[in-house]
Amino acid sequence: MKKIGFGIIGTGVIAEFHAAALKDVEGAELVAVCDRVAERAQAFSEKYGVPYECDLDVFLAREDIDAVTIATPTGVHADVAVPAAKAGKHILCEKPLEVTVERANRIIDACEASGVVLASVFQLRLSLSVQLIKKAIKEGRFGKIVMATVQVKWFRDQAYYDSGKWRGTWAMDGGGALMNQAVHTIDLLTYLVGRPESVSAYTATLTHTGIEVEDTAAAVVKFESGAMGTIEASTSCAPGFPLHLEICGEKGSVVLEDSDILRWSFVDQTPEDDAILAKGIAGENIKGGSSDPKAISHEGHRRLIEDLSEVIQTGREPMVPGREALGAVELICGIYESAKSGQTYFFE
Ligand SMILES: NC(=O)c1ccc[n+]([C@@H]2O[C@H](COP(=O)([O-])OP(=O)(O)OC[C@H]3O[C@@H](n4cnc5c(N)ncnc54)[C@H](O)[C@@H]3O)[C@@H](O)[C@H]2O)c1
Repeated sequence: MKKIGFGIIGTGVIAEFHAAALKDVEGAELVAVCDRVAERAQAFSEKYGVPYECDLDVFLAREDIDAVTIATPTGVHADVAVPAAKAGKHILCEKPLEVTVERANRIIDACEASGVVLASVFQLRLSLSVQLIKKAIKEGRFGKIVMATVQVKWFRDQAYYDSGKWRGTWAMDGGGALMNQAVHTIDLLTYLVGRPESVSAYTATLTHTGIEVEDTAAAVVKFESGAMGTIEASTSCAPGFPLHLEICGEKGSVVLEDSDILRWSFVDQTPEDDAILAKGIAGENIKGGSSDPKAISHEGHRRLIEDLSEVIQTGREPMVPGREALGAVELICGIYESAKSGQTYFFE
């Protein structure tokens, strides 16, 4: 079967993980890269032995590119994804999908209009632990979900924010600890618990300078299902804890730390449950990067590239459809609205 040709747009930090992951996917290959800064594109192309292009239209005209990976700053995703969709390229878009719901919808609409697949990089969803929790929810094992807790108490030093002009800006980063770092876990929250009905929140910039966005946030969420939840997110908590997610229901509760299951407790406990708990599903190596953004493995990216390649060949749904990636952007933007107004924000 023909390998799916991938082109990467934006050859910065995360592009390295995509390029490394592509080498490990049998059904896909990196065929070209694009960056608006020629020196970066050239250095990347030499490292991975593929051609580079700085002009997006010329890059998108390449017939050997079936799919593009969008790895530019977040506030540029729509600017490159919309022409890519119009050029008939399938899209694997880095998280978050965009900086606002309106801009994220532009990508979704362009992909639907062109009939190309849009998949989002929320690699934590693909961990075995999260899939086990999702399955248990589908099987009704939690009964009514009552409470959910997200804690992303991470650390980013000042040098991290100083490393790129776009970091910590509303226009390009779309937000701070919530939109850039906690977005993965907030995606898990909407994936597992569902749509929010309302949110009340505080945000602040407590330890970093020269950034427009929050480095610390606390929010209380009410979900459409009636469940309640809290979200704590920060990039000011040294040295940084693993991400923490709790889902608690009337018939069972679980605790996830990074991709490890710490607690797995159901009223109707089975031998399989004991096995899950004994193993803790540890060692999956799809970690969060609590102290260092580069301290993640490329395993999650590998699974997403493999998934999109199969989707293109078979026509099935991707594991993280682009439309679902909207949920985290919607919830985080609601948190910002509440923090700004001092009022509870109600979702449409
Ligand atoms: N999935 C994850 O765990 C993860 C981790 C880190 C970053 N990200 C996401 O990846 C994206 C990129 O982050 P990064 O840290 O790699 O950023 P970066 O600044 O290191 O790299 C971005 C690159 O995009 C290039 N660029 C900017 N505008 C462009 C344009 N219009 N056309 C082509 N190239 C352009 C820049 O020159 C730069 O080389 C962000 O959306 C970020 O949220 C995801």
